[in-house]
Amino acid sequence: MATNNKGRRDFMGMALGGFTALGGIGALYAMKRTWDPLPSVKAAGFTTLNMKDYKEGELVTEKWRGKPIFVLKQSADTVAKLAKEKPDDLKRLIKVGDGHYTVCVGLCTHLGCIPGFRPETNDFLCACHGGMYDVTAEVTKAPPPRGLDIPPFKIDGDKLVLGEEGPEYKKMLEDGITMPV
Ligand code: FES
Repeated sequence: MATNNKGRRDFMGMALGGFTALGGIGALYAMKRTWDPLPSVKAAGFTTLNMKDYKEGELVTEKWRGKPIFVLKQSADTVAKLAKEKPDDLKRLIKVGDGHYTVCVGLCTHLGCIPGFRPETNDFLCACHGGMYDVTAEVTKAPPPRGLDIPPFKIDGDKLVLGEEGPEYKKMLEDGITMPV
């Protein structure tokens, strides 16, 4: 009798252990599915922006590979002013069709805070330690060591494909206008 009870307890223990192990595997699988990027994101890893959708002077934050991407269409006045006063910074803008755009990773190059755009002064302020960037996201006040990074891009008609390295992006890298992201 005692042996039978022990045998039953052993069986129950094994069965419960099996359920627990299965439950654990199921939970791990569910967690992995949650952490893994969607198959389409994993396969592609790029974001396509239709540049005709943006309005002058209005900052839009897009997303690419989990990072915030600032897109700011510049007015003709701003472009003319930059050409006159800061021709080097003008090289940071991406020209798509007739428009000039600031497109950059919206993470401060100091310690990674998200700077805020100030339309009234046409610049970016990082509130964490007071770093500042001009309208092209070039740094104007330390502590950030450099301007906001420009993500890899390829111009495709009126569209900008983030994640692909077109000739304009490669030239920016060569000229030291941005760091690889
Ligand atoms: S994180 Fe932006 S200034 Fe420090």
